[in-house]
Amino acid sequence: MKLWQGRFAAPTAADADAFNESLSFDKKLYKADITASLAHAEMLGRCKIISEEDSAAIRGGLECILSDIESGKLEISGQEDIHSFVENELVSRIGDAGKRLHTARSRNDQVATDFRLYVRSSAEEIVGLLKSLISSLVSLSEKYVKNIMPGYTHLRKAQPINCAQYFNAYSEMFLRDAERFVGVRKRADVMPLGSGALAGTSYPIDREITRELLGFSEISQNSLDGVSDRDFAAEYLFACSLTMAHLSRLCEDTILYTSTEFGFWEMPDAYSTGSSIMPQKKNPDICELVRGKTGRVYGDLVALLTVIKGVPLAYNKDLQEDKEGLFDAEKTVKDCLFIYAEMMRSIVPNVQRMEEAAAEDFTCATDVADYLAKKGVPFRTAHGVVGGIVRQCLNEGKTLASLTLDEYKKHSDAFGSDILEVVKARNSADSRNSVGGSSVSAARAGIRSIKKRLARLPY
Ligand code: ARG
Repeated sequence: MKLWQGRFAAPTAADADAFNESLSFDKKLYKADITASLAHAEMLGRCKIISEEDSAAIRGGLECILSDIESGKLEISGQEDIHSFVENELVSRIGDAGKRLHTARSRNDQVATDFRLYVRSSAEEIVGLLKSLISSLVSLSEKYVKNIMPGYTHLRKAQPINCAQYFNAYSEMFLRDAERFVGVRKRADVMPLGSGALAGTSYPIDREITRELLGFSEISQNSLDGVSDRDFAAEYLFACSLTMAHLSRLCEDTILYTSTEFGFWEMPDAYSTGSSIMPQKKNPDICELVRGKTGRVYGDLVALLTVIKGVPLAYNKDLQEDKEGLFDAEKTVKDCLFIYAEMMRSIVPNVQRMEEAAAEDFTCATDVADYLAKKGVPFRTAHGVVGGIVRQCLNEGKTLASLTLDEYKKHSDAFGSDILEVVKARNSADSRNSVGGSSVSAARAGIRSIKKRLARLPY
């Protein structure tokens, strides 16, 4: 029986029912829905809007429904949406008292409340997964803080960097994501229950009671906005999207660095895949899939932004389209964060190869120019001089480290014997001691700072 059947002389067409239903996906909200109904029923009783006995009977019935769903005894099916399902089930179990649950409430404030409860706890779970990924990265930073690798711009070798500084860069991104989800949770933590269908209610409800029972920090201050605001869901999807953007960058690096062309990291067999035709292949399918799944999460964000655009006040059924994309993005982000945290725990950096690569392709050229500038040569002039040195090396098949002091002196009188130390990749990386820079001590400070912020994250 539909909750709204009374007004209709004829039943809806089966295809209209199938098109209209949301139970197939909003059944995920069963726990949030029952939790919110428990609080609503208690408030109705305490405010004497229904009798204490009815309130207690409703709550007892709801508890049983919840435990029957969780034990698998009760299958969620046969109704338009999760709200109708729970209410129908309640009425079939406890009779008339169950029919009083929907007093001073609408499915509009109910679904908005359920969805906020869901998003709030999901944001907490994602913070937990981000923390685990950051911990994997911090372990790598701690282990390889004394090693160097090439740093890139435009995917061309640029300057030698510290390996910990590299991993720290991703920790910074994921820390921002975690903080963003903390913010998303905060904005979701506002209770619309009590908004009614759109205009509030004439019953003497006490929204403070339900707020407290549901653990919300605030109560929504406008019932029209309360039932139709989905900003929190859009923000959640944006936070998911940016997390995927960061993961996809790490994927790209992983794919490159585990290739034979780079040879920086070894991917363990456990997280690699083979080819059905080429026996020699070891493919980074996991990374490619994570990178590819970024697209669907962006799609989920854009879909919701488009759904909420132009929706007139207050609730409109368009808003039912808020759920599937969010559930899809949630599963995608959680799966990707989990697998990446596991995978990063098992990658094996080839420190020797990275150190060799860090010295290739004139990565210390900036250091030579800085050397001259520190001896008083204007930087722009020094830049030109070093450009000439690099050109000479390219013509003669030499490297900056293989040039003799005499050869350097031919380019500038300012060169002294200490230049031969400056052009060592390790010294280059270690000379950049500015905050956030590539020296061992700056990278160590970076790790300390990340650990401090990691420990401060809630959940
Ligand atoms: N399934 C609906 C949704 O997800 C619940 C609210 C229905 N409200 C209504 N007036 N039809 O938005």
